[in-house]
Amino acid sequence: MTHNFDEIIPRRNTDSVKWDLAGPDVLPMWVADMDFRSPPCVVKALEKRAQQGVFGYPLTPAAFYEAIQGWWQRHHGFSLEKDWIVPVPSILTALSTVIQTFAKPGEKVLLQSPGYNHFFMAIEDSGCEVVANDLMHDNGRYSIDFDDLEQKASDPDVKVFLLCSPHNPVGRVWTREELLRMGEICNRHNVLVIADEIHSDLVFEDFYHVPFASLGPDFQSKSITCSSTSKTFNMAGLQVAYLISVNPDLKKQIEHTLHAQGQLFLSPFATDALIAAYNEGEAWMQELKTYLFENYLFLREFVAQHLPFFKVTPLEATYLVWIDVSALKKSSKDISNALLKEQQLWINPGTMYGANGEGFMRINIACPRVLLADGLERLKKYLG
Ligand SMILES: Cc1ncc(COP(=O)(O)O)c(C=O)c1O
Repeated sequence: MTHNFDEIIPRRNTDSVKWDLAGPDVLPMWVADMDFRSPPCVVKALEKRAQQGVFGYPLTPAAFYEAIQGWWQRHHGFSLEKDWIVPVPSILTALSTVIQTFAKPGEKVLLQSPGYNHFFMAIEDSGCEVVANDLMHDNGRYSIDFDDLEQKASDPDVKVFLLCSPHNPVGRVWTREELLRMGEICNRHNVLVIADEIHSDLVFEDFYHVPFASLGPDFQSKSITCSSTSKTFNMAGLQVAYLISVNPDLKKQIEHTLHAQGQLFLSPFATDALIAAYNEGEAWMQELKTYLFENYLFLREFVAQHLPFFKVTPLEATYLVWIDVSALKKSSKDISNALLKEQQLWINPGTMYGANGEGFMRINIACPRVLLADGLERLKKYLG
């Protein structure tokens, strides 16, 4: 390995959400942000831009689109056209924009629960109603209740389905068959699919990501995909993401909403960082994935040895591990509050991701192994 992911980079007092919202002794393993430096190519690109010292209104260069096209072709075997891509500052901007474009206040948006907490907020903040298709949990593995999805999608007030692929927080990589079935249901009921594929690069061996838009023309014309470099290369603070809309009519409507919001261009730092990451960050990402998976194995081994009454959900993608702590017979909120108070460990309660997240905790393992070991020891101490 050429990159040293074991290096501890002090992040306290750096205006970090993850570290500076936590108290001085708190070990934060909550928000999806890694304690690793972005790849050197990204840092170099930012330095080069800073050295020029002129920060006037930027254009989004052809290289931005080419970097995205190249990445998707190499990593997901999917050919994108430049005209399908719309730059946006973040996935959350993209989600809210798409919801507000295609669902009116009072109308409904489907999601799968447990689900990323900001999905709920983006829907409710847009004045829409959340409709949850609860995932089924069987023997530690999550699957989709297609009958329930069909029944909910058939409500004429449901306009959009917010799909998380791969899934945060349950760590599933949806198979082609699952994606096809979900897509067919949505098409049958005229529900637009927003595929949030922000976690699509951090997929582990034996699993592979199928882009929703690669399923075929019927699925392309009734879906919007969102992705970014922010999880893969740890650059959420740089605010760069993009939408993919194969259907020009949908794209036009989205661009109209973006313009109405005053979202006209990306920061040149954001643009340069994405170009560098996608064009030169491949080897770094492969090493990162190896390190993350070793962290996952470390956690699994620790739990098996010291906390055998917990069940670790198999991690197919992401660095967010979903642990069944129901054996403690306490609410996940109470556990997370007690961990924070007694052990200064911040991990998220499962109910942050929907009511059926009760009995689970989500732990972010994207940190040097020593910090992970520290977090796990705190968990063990809490249990006495
Ligand atoms: C599924 C999912 N979508 C979106 C985001 C946030 O993306 P952004 O920071 O680009 O808004 C996250 C962050 O954890 C996420 O897990």
